Amino acid sequence: MKDQIEAIQAEALARIETAGDARSLEDARVAILGKKGTLTEVSAGMRDVPKEEKAAVGQLLNAARQAITASLEGKQQAIQDAADRQALEGIDVTLPARALHHGSLHPLTIIRHDAIRILRRMGFALAEGPEIEDEFHCFDALNTPADHPARNEKDTFYFDSGKLLRTHTSSVQVRTMEGQAPPVRIIAPGSAYRRDEIDATHLSVFNQLEGLYVDTDVSLGDLKGTLEYFFHELYGPKTEVRFRPHFFPFTEPSFEIDVKLEVKGQAPRWIEVAGCGMVDPAVFEAISSSRKDPAYDPEKVTGFAFGMGLDRLAMIRWGIKDIRLLIENDARFLKQFA
Ligand code: DAH
Repeated sequence: MKDQIEAIQAEALARIETAGDARSLEDARVAILGKKGTLTEVSAGMRDVPKEEKAAVGQLLNAARQAITASLEGKQQAIQDAADRQALEGIDVTLPARALHHGSLHPLTIIRHDAIRILRRMGFALAEGPEIEDEFHCFDALNTPADHPARNEKDTFYFDSGKLLRTHTSSVQVRTMEGQAPPVRIIAPGSAYRRDEIDATHLSVFNQLEGLYVDTDVSLGDLKGTLEYFFHELYGPKTEVRFRPHFFPFTEPSFEIDVKLEVKGQAPRWIEVAGCGMVDPAVFEAISSSRKDPAYDPEKVTGFAFGMGLDRLAMIRWGIKDIRLLIENDARFLKQFA
């Protein structure tokens, strides 16, 4: 029996040694230690071993089992190591890593930041107001009569409560003056809402930037100088800027501003970018009755106001033909601004 065990052990170790892959190693394990394995079968012979030899034979069997198990484990590790080494072969660890994807600012964010930066340099402070407004702040205080088309149900989103989604950021002018005596020099970037049919140049939500400057002796010259400077800073000093007479209920006189600039791939043409004007005394009167003080006495203060569409400003700067690109979040479009 001892000879048999030794022979089986020797044979087993030799077989394990020659196993070249995980599968043949597993076959070897089953052939040796499995239910019908060689070592398992010889162990069954223990019953017939005479008592006085049992201990010695048992020891031998244990030693054989341990040697075989150790050899199996060692070989398994060696096969795994070889596989790992092979997997790493051919990998050039000195190659540069794959570039990480960088996000970028949205074009609207870029243009808003630029506009704010330019206007803050001229002393305008940021102001804000609610997007859900009432008719007083959106229309009445801005000298917009009840029958004005902008107030129509067809053009404005009304709530059952009578409140509405502000149709322009001009409502922030009213809220600011209600809360603060002159001098006032504020800008208010924010969303505005209209029931427009959505197409390449219209969305029902868009972005405006409102401006208001009220003090004693604010003149039309201040308005022109400020906005000309603004558009030259935003679009470059060669940009032409013109003021075209227009009508807004809350300013008198009122103008629309057009700019003419070089946009890649487009013939230069005049494009409307903003509305502006001198604050109408009727607005100051509405503020005075709301505040119940003479801080905005139209005989004492003057002011100018302006409002521009940020979406439009971005479309002009980059030659974007369809406003819907600004809300679709298509990475192929957005990554051009990285
Ligand atoms: N609120 C106007 C609009 O949405 C834009 C505007 C025009 C704002 C003239 C002003 C202004 O402050 O003075 O079309």
